Amino acid sequence: MKASAPGKIILFGEHAVVYNRPALAVPVTQVHVDVEVLDSPRHGIWIHAPGIDLHSELNSLPADHPIGSVILKLFSTLGISSLPTLDITIASTIPVAAGLGSGAAVSVALIRALAQYLAHPLSNEKINDLVFEIEKLHHGTPSGIDNTVITYAQPVYFIKGQPMEIFKVGKPFTIVIGDTGIPAPTKESVSDLRRLWLRNTNHFEEIFNEIAQISLIARRSIESGKTELLGNLMDHNHSLLQDMTVSSPMLDGLVKTARNAGALGAKLSGSGRGGNMIALVDQPNAESVAGALISAGAKRTIITEVN
Ligand code: PMV
Repeated sequence: MKASAPGKIILFGEHAVVYNRPALAVPVTQVHVDVEVLDSPRHGIWIHAPGIDLHSELNSLPADHPIGSVILKLFSTLGISSLPTLDITIASTIPVAAGLGSGAAVSVALIRALAQYLAHPLSNEKINDLVFEIEKLHHGTPSGIDNTVITYAQPVYFIKGQPMEIFKVGKPFTIVIGDTGIPAPTKESVSDLRRLWLRNTNHFEEIFNEIAQISLIARRSIESGKTELLGNLMDHNHSLLQDMTVSSPMLDGLVKTARNAGALGAKLSGSGRGGNMIALVDQPNAESVAGALISAGAKRTIITEVN
C-alpha cells in the first residue's frame, strides 16, 4: 500500500495566521513524501527512512519519536491494540526544517498509507485532525495551516479555528522558491513574536490587520486571474515581516536578488530567520531568477507553478 503527500509554501499571512488572520498556502508537488507499507517477514513494525538513516523497530524508538508517535496515535484512534507485522518505508524529497512542511507531509502520507493498509481508510478531514494533533505535540502552538494544505493538496485560504476554504486559481502563475539552507527556528520566532506582541499589542495588531488585508486581496487577485497584482502584495508582506523581526540578512538579501533579477515581487515564506523565500516570476524568467538566487548563496531552488 502506497501513499504520498506534497510539500507546501505559505504565499501570504505567515505569523499573522497565529493571531487569527487569514493566510494563503499552496502545495508544492515538486517535492513529496512517499510511504509504502508491506507485510513484514519478521515480527514487529519495522520503519525504514533512509533519508534520515533510520532502520528501526517501532518499540525501540524513543516514546516521543515523531514517526513512532504518528503510528501509535493512528493505532489508538483506530482502536488497534494487537500490533500487526509491517515494513514501512518512508522516502522524502522535502528538505527538513525549511518551511516546506516536511514533518506534516510525513505524518499525512504515513497515516494515509497505514489506514488504507489496515482497511480503515480515513477522510481528509479526519487525517487533517490527527496530523494537527501530532503537529501540536512537536511544534507547540501551530496554526494548523501546514497540515491543512498538505492533507488537501490544494490551495487553501486558512483562518485558525475555522473551516478551511479551498480557492481556485484563475490563471496559473510561477513561483521560484529559494532555500537559505539555514534551519527555520519556527518555535523560537513564534514565541519571540508573542513576547513583542504582549509588550506592544496595538502596534502588532495593526501589522496583522494590514497582513489580513493583503491575504484577502491576494486571494481575490488569484481567483480572478489578476496575478500581476501579487508582486506588490508580496513586497508589502515582506516589509511587514521585517517589522515583525522574523526576516534575516540572508532572507532580505535573497529577496533583493530576486527582485533585481526580474522577479515581480518576493518575500520570505514560513516562519523566517532561515528556511525559504519565494519570488513571483514571469515563467520565462524563472530559470534566470533561480540562477541568481544560487549565485547569491541559496542552497537550492524549486520552480513551481501554482494552478
Ligand atoms: O515554517 P513553516 O512554513 O512551518 O511556517 C510556520 C508558519 C507560522 O505562521 C509562522 C506558524 C504557524 O503555525 O502558522
